[in-house]
Amino acid sequence: MRVLLTGGAGYIGSHTAVVLAERGHEVVIVDDYSNAHPEAVRRVAEIVGKAVPMVEADLANQKAAAQAFTDAAAALGGELDAVIHFAGLKAVGESVAQPTRYYRTNINSTLNVLDQMRAHSINRLVFSSSATVYGDPETNPIAETQQVGVGLTNPYGWSKAMNEQIIRDAAVVQKGFRAVLLRYFNPVGAHESGRIGEDPSGIPNNLMPFVAQVAVGKREQLSVFGSSYPTPDGTGVRDYIHVMDLAEGHAAALEAAGEGVAEYNLGSGKGSSVLEVVAAFEQASGRPVPYQIVDARPGDVAECVADPRKANAELNWQTTRSLADACADSWRWQSQNPNGYAKDGEVTA
Ligand code: UD1
Repeated sequence: MRVLLTGGAGYIGSHTAVVLAERGHEVVIVDDYSNAHPEAVRRVAEIVGKAVPMVEADLANQKAAAQAFTDAAAALGGELDAVIHFAGLKAVGESVAQPTRYYRTNINSTLNVLDQMRAHSINRLVFSSSATVYGDPETNPIAETQQVGVGLTNPYGWSKAMNEQIIRDAAVVQKGFRAVLLRYFNPVGAHESGRIGEDPSGIPNNLMPFVAQVAVGKREQLSVFGSSYPTPDGTGVRDYIHVMDLAEGHAAALEAAGEGVAEYNLGSGKGSSVLEVVAAFEQASGRPVPYQIVDARPGDVAECVADPRKANAELNWQTTRSLADACADSWRWQSQNPNGYAKDGEVTA
């Protein structure tokens, strides 16, 4: 298939581009590089051994989105078959501080993508949703049947829930439309080559990149947010999924998408605590990861673990990589690229 990846230069998009290209799909990336680096796409091309065309555009802008779809099809030499929509802002704390910016970017880009898909008769969409749409889950592991969009604590999470609804509504009026909403749990790790990985700007918000930067000596110590959750060791429990397993989940969803809209959890089904992640990373890197326990982070839930059985059964997909694999791959990326994609001499935070 000819597949447009919005936000394809980002962390999950770049890994998905590798998997799709290796499965014989033709990939074109549209990104505004506001939180991504063109170097990531060059490295994707290097890994897969063929050129990956890029179109620079801000998809939240209606005119730019229209031009980007035309340019993307031209770059692949034919009309597109599918879109995987990764583009969006994703920092939870920032979304609380800048709500209108988050809604404007994350909602407008989806509206424009849907309009362009309709205009070009592109009938296949895979959307980057998040386990955050479940809020504070009623039970763990979380199945897709649990309630969505209730009591969410930040605009980022709301924008994901709203986008799910917008896609459901758009699907009603486009004949033959097939959409898959993928609810990611906690993506971690990197491509096993160490050439592409997560490159957060500034101080990482998420656990694994922070731990990796402590291990490599870029940051002094980790703050563990809370130690009195009702979990085995008192720290928060999450379902960490290797980004290459996640990328394979996108390829499976793209290929299996049936008519209408379906939602799937992409997770491993296994929970790990913050302290277990720290121990796994120390083991993989051979470096100490000093930490201190601090207050819980507002909005965090005690536990968030996927029930991935629906995706296992219907997408014929399952995770094959462990937390130890993710730590080893993340360490390879971090130690070989201590400044991420920045060129030598470029200043990083
Ligand atoms: C967060 C978002 C989620 C988003 C995901 C990926 C919330 C409530 N959820 O998930 O919507 O999709 O990021 O961007 O914010 N931790 C520490 N110290 C740190 C960082 C994290 O102890 O410096 C702990 C957290 O308390 C949590 C776990 O590590 O228990 C994972 O945190 P994180 O990587 O930020 O992901 P989530 O909060 O699960």
